Amino acid sequence: MSKPSAGSVKRAEELRSALDEHNYQYYVLDDPGIPDAEYDRLFRELQKLETEYPQLVSDDSPTRRVGSTAETSFDEVVHRLPMLSLDNAFSEEELRDFDRRVRERLGSDNDIEYVCEPKLDGLAVSVHYEQGLLVRAATRGDGYAGEDITANIRTIPSVPLRIRGRDVPDLVEVRGEVYMPRAGFEALNNRLENHGDKTFVNPRNAAAGSLRQKKSTVTARRPLEMCAYSVAVTDDSLLPDTQWESLQQVRQWGFRINPEMRKALGVSECLAAYEELMQKRDALPYEIDGIVFKVNRLDYQATLGFVSRAPRWAIAHKFPAQEELTVIEDVEFQVGRTGAVTPVARLKPVFVGGVTVSNATLHNMDEIRRLDVRIGDTVFVRRAGDVIPKVVKVVIEKRPKTAKSVVLPKQCPVCDSDVIQIEGEVVARCSGGLFCPAQRKEAIRHYASRKALDIEGLGDKWIDILVDHAMVSTVADIYHLTIKDLLRLERMGEKSASNLVAAIDRSRQPVLWRFLYALGIREVGEATAKSLASHFGSLEAVAEADEESLVAVQDVGPIVAGHIRSFFEQPHNLETLDALRDAGVKWQEEEITAGAKPLQGQTWVLTGTLSELTRDEAREKLETLGAKVAGSVSRKTACVVAGEAAGSKLEKAEKLGVQVLDEQALLEMLKEHELF
Ligand code: IVH
Repeated sequence: MSKPSAGSVKRAEELRSALDEHNYQYYVLDDPGIPDAEYDRLFRELQKLETEYPQLVSDDSPTRRVGSTAETSFDEVVHRLPMLSLDNAFSEEELRDFDRRVRERLGSDNDIEYVCEPKLDGLAVSVHYEQGLLVRAATRGDGYAGEDITANIRTIPSVPLRIRGRDVPDLVEVRGEVYMPRAGFEALNNRLENHGDKTFVNPRNAAAGSLRQKKSTVTARRPLEMCAYSVAVTDDSLLPDTQWESLQQVRQWGFRINPEMRKALGVSECLAAYEELMQKRDALPYEIDGIVFKVNRLDYQATLGFVSRAPRWAIAHKFPAQEELTVIEDVEFQVGRTGAVTPVARLKPVFVGGVTVSNATLHNMDEIRRLDVRIGDTVFVRRAGDVIPKVVKVVIEKRPKTAKSVVLPKQCPVCDSDVIQIEGEVVARCSGGLFCPAQRKEAIRHYASRKALDIEGLGDKWIDILVDHAMVSTVADIYHLTIKDLLRLERMGEKSASNLVAAIDRSRQPVLWRFLYALGIREVGEATAKSLASHFGSLEAVAEADEESLVAVQDVGPIVAGHIRSFFEQPHNLETLDALRDAGVKWQEEEITAGAKPLQGQTWVLTGTLSELTRDEAREKLETLGAKVAGSVSRKTACVVAGEAAGSKLEKAEKLGVQVLDEQALLEMLKEHELF
């Protein structure tokens, strides 16, 4: 083992204190001093130094937070002072009773000053420091003895490994809550789900599960935080006189305290703080289940003392629960505007997260299988932060014998078309896209959109109005609209009405690919529509094609072929196509180029100014013919189209002997392929 130079020793110290400082700014002050990437660079530099010279590693080095793979045994730790619990107040009345008892015991007629702290929904922990160094951390356990979780606690970045500052008491015990912020919880659950692992029901369970890990390397990858809410030292005279100030002290020592903390004078200010925090509840980045009021003066706290296992000087005023038990009475299926068929649980109404909930989404059949939900089951319903209530867990022990499995319907509950679930896709869909009332507005919006039939003036607003007034129910109906009909609508002027009717009329003779695209068949985008049009030449041929001939088309795989087949198998979709034909819509047939597009494999270059087409239009048309359009000329270029004032690219083409077309010749060629 080589000896580190004085420079390396100094640099390691420098890096450690810089990393500690940044950690403090980030987790305690909520004010990052440097970007994450810079932090990572410093961290790696320290890691490298420590690997090179293991003598440099110290117990309080930030690199020690990555944890270890050694298995923790969670030995018992007896608490020096019991870790108490809190009494709860569930109403204003109960809070007033608490405040009255406090004043009576203190013999005070004056309003009491309280500290109001959010009640974080996590786990209580106690962390011990000797001579400023973290030596032990424990869970609450039964209040008298908990488990040694030192290795896991050390991985939490908001827990200081060494107390900051000078004049730190020899022994310090900080208590607080370890919790998982919502964003981290979501990310963790996504990660677990992607690995096929079991997910956590809520952030509290996730925090508990993470602290209970045997390998601290696993805990290190869990997004845990700690907020301090109390402190004890060997000699009380070393602490300020109030809860408020002692927490300020703790913050200076490098612990995170809750930024929502405030003081309140008397019970009415406490009630105001309760209301205010409840309003903020859903916007906070972590979950809270109430507010804790603590008598601020520590001498008062001492006078008040404890009853059984709770202090007389503090109370938790609880918020409405965000998780409750209820029964699934039925599961119904809803069809969204894009045809997604979603199972929705009909619940025995239950008050949760501040509202009465009688429906909860089950997302899709995979979710139903994952949760193993059956009709008749008792379930945990959760409504937190987000507004949509969710079924998070089934209580299997309460499952009745009569519980019924949930079956995906074969027919759309709205339009009776087939429901298709393509292998490998989680979402089941109604295949009656052109007809299904649930998908009406979306189908019309897509049909009229710029890249489809480009019906100017038929935007979302008018589509909503026309459908809501029952003037239009399928795309075919728009061709029957008259100026007179439109003028009956509020805010529709003479000019807009005639413009709209004219725009609709102009869309009566679309090129085949645009029409195909406009039908809104799932996963048939512009490129696929173009390939289908040039491959089959007519709509009838596409409609009749079997899967085998469909997958022969460029861009079409078995999934897309499946979507195309099921679209044309739905009688309602075919009826709508007939109705479009009857309304005078005549999509043009296209010359079949059967996959072998005429310019396939060629690279073309456009240069100079074209007069009849924009560059983008010219590029699009050349691409339709299979060419790749590049920005520079090389020996491999098949052809250069030179417009007005073409410059160096034309020169280069001539020098390399590459074929050159002028605009006229390009247009001739496009006309041959009915692209102009
Ligand atoms: S004080 C003697 N303050 O609530 C006082 N507890 O129901 C003991 N909790 O086990 C706790 N936020 O896990 C206190 N600001 C806060 C708190 C808090 C959350 C938890 C803690 C405790 C439980 C008691």
